[in-house]
Amino acid sequence: MLSNPGLYIHFPWCVKKCPYCDFNSHPLKGDVDQQRYLDSLLKDWQLQSADTFSPLANTEFLEDGFKTVFFGGGTPSLFKPKLMATLLKHLPIAADAEVTMEANPGTQEYTDFEHYLSAGINRLSIGAQSFQNSQLAKLGRVHNSAETVAAVARARSAGFANINIDLMWGLPGQSLKDALFDLESAIALSPPHISWYQLTIEAKTEFAKRPPLLPIDGVLAEIETKGNELLTAQGYHRYEISAYAKESAYCQHNINYWSFGDYVGLGAGAHGKVSERGQILRTQKASQPRLYLDEPEKISVQKVTKEQLPLEFMMNALRLIDGTGTETFTEKTGLDWQEIKPQWDRLVAQGLVRTDRCSTTELGLRYLDTVLEEFVN
Ligand SMILES: C[S@@+](CC[C@H](N)C(=O)[O-])C[C@H]1O[C@@H](n2cnc3c(N)ncnc32)[C@H](O)[C@@H]1O
Ligand code: SF4
Repeated sequence: MLSNPGLYIHFPWCVKKCPYCDFNSHPLKGDVDQQRYLDSLLKDWQLQSADTFSPLANTEFLEDGFKTVFFGGGTPSLFKPKLMATLLKHLPIAADAEVTMEANPGTQEYTDFEHYLSAGINRLSIGAQSFQNSQLAKLGRVHNSAETVAAVARARSAGFANINIDLMWGLPGQSLKDALFDLESAIALSPPHISWYQLTIEAKTEFAKRPPLLPIDGVLAEIETKGNELLTAQGYHRYEISAYAKESAYCQHNINYWSFGDYVGLGAGAHGKVSERGQILRTQKASQPRLYLDEPEKISVQKVTKEQLPLEFMMNALRLIDGTGTETFTEKTGLDWQEIKPQWDRLVAQGLVRTDRCSTTELGLRYLDTVLEEFVN
């Protein structure tokens, strides 16, 4: 049965495609029929919440409504706030839900922040990436640093307090000084949450085809260490590999993913995970916006096998700095902790994981891939 699932809603268009990005995002060619996308999302929801559709057949949770909603992309801030408002009105959302929207400072829509707030969005995730214009140009971003600063100020004056800033590090030609400058610039805006991702070169992206010169390992290690120290000294608590928050500003939607919780995915290419009658199902919608618009009710459903479960759980839970309790493993996978005890004991012997919790040590966090290999069948 679903318990407190999150809701993810995907918007697959961007002004242009960034050369490092492998998300399901498509450059806008002319106008998108936003009303048609909204209609498709509503049809998608109708199907996924219908009693006849087995993965979500148990709709008890709808009484309380979703506790978290995340509009991701792509660039959801390209969408009209009025349509967001209509969508949110048609979905069961708890009164105190965390409702996040990703916003790209290069989409002029930030003048509309008040309207997004009144539509029901109460958390913004602003894609800054860097505060150096030369770096933003290398990353193919459609905004400069001043526009990011202005977007944060606009969001604040519109009434948004719960703001995340996305930054990346390990960028082309980046020095330690450059990386710390980016962090200091973000911290100066005092957002309660900062996501600080190491740039990865993803297959099939422009950067994979024409790889930029990245910092050498020694510089990367220094950036990671000094960046962590800076964030910690400024009161940001690292609670996940790339997520830092002040006090209670943890992203509840992402914590649900990392705790192997359930979520419903709406929109082109959206993924979902639902636990139903002792089995875990993964859902996926058509990635191509055109296909999704034509057949929004089409969904692929795959069962996660018992053999896949330990790795799937660990890939999420071990990203959390404190991991989870061992009982959460049982609760979310239906498997007994004893089933993975031999692997866990081997990792304990190498000093990579803790004995008291389902959590890595500091060393294990640095070598997370090695830890996860233990769970590969
Ligand atoms: C779904 S993306 C998009 C958010 C929004 N469209 C934007 O770019 O402003 C969320 C975040 O993932 C990070 N990201 C995207 N591609 C990445 C990559 N190849 N390596 C590391 N981080 C990446 C970026 O910080 C980005 O803001
Ligand atoms: S704006 Fe965001 S989602 Fe769009 S291409 Fe760039 S990184 Fe990807």
